Amino acid sequence: MAQFESFIWTIHFILLNVDPCSTYDPAIYKIGDRYCRMCLPGYHVHSHCTKSTFTSCVPCIDSTFLDEPSDKTTCNNCTTCDPGLGLMVKQPCTPSSDTVCGTLEGFYCLDPTKDGCRAAQRHSSCLPGQYISHAGTISTDTVCSDCTGDTYSNGSFTSCQPHTQCDTLKLQQIKPGTHWSDSECGPQISPIATLIFAVVVGVLAVIAAVTTAAIMKRRRKKHQRSFNS
Ligand SMILES: *[C@@H]1O[C@H](CO)[C@@H](O)[C@H](O)[C@H]1NC(C)=O
Repeated sequence: MAQFESFIWTIHFILLNVDPCSTYDPAIYKIGDRYCRMCLPGYHVHSHCTKSTFTSCVPCIDSTFLDEPSDKTTCNNCTTCDPGLGLMVKQPCTPSSDTVCGTLEGFYCLDPTKDGCRAAQRHSSCLPGQYISHAGTISTDTVCSDCTGDTYSNGSFTSCQPHTQCDTLKLQQIKPGTHWSDSECGPQISPIATLIFAVVVGVLAVIAAVTTAAIMKRRRKKHQRSFNS
């Protein structure tokens, strides 16, 4: 087998238009009954070799590339990094290498390649009542955990916060806390203020009752008078 291969290579070098002085690994392709040398990465075949000429190669231009020795007569189009897929350019395209895409800020890669990414997704956000227990990275999504006990988080906290204790602030609790919201405190009403308020309300109620009774009495009298005449 090795002998056969070496025989073939000898034929390539000596008889089949392969430049024996080239230091480049002579990748060969067959076209018709001829063996031609491939073009280097970054170049495509302009014309195949003939009995008297080597393969002629020209560079890839206009956002095209070939990253391997090849017998192609055109170059491949460079990949575009679609921001809609959460991608951005990490390494621009060159004639001999395709674009390498990376993930946008706030995204993680769903389809990794050797040095980049083919598709990414935005990091999930946590729900109210949850906290971010592990922030998203370029390769992993956000991890959320539930708040427990006397704590809350609106979904964007990195830990659950304890509810405000209104009584320790000498305030009155207006709304108790939940796992997604803090408790709400209001000013403490003093006992004297409460007493004054109660008295005022009481007096107003008495006045209202007396007035109503007087009006009703007068109306009834007027009604009787008109009925009698
Ligand atoms: C949660 O609260 C923080 C700080 O109070 C605020 O900046 C953020 O916008 C809130 N997030 C949500 C999802 O409501």
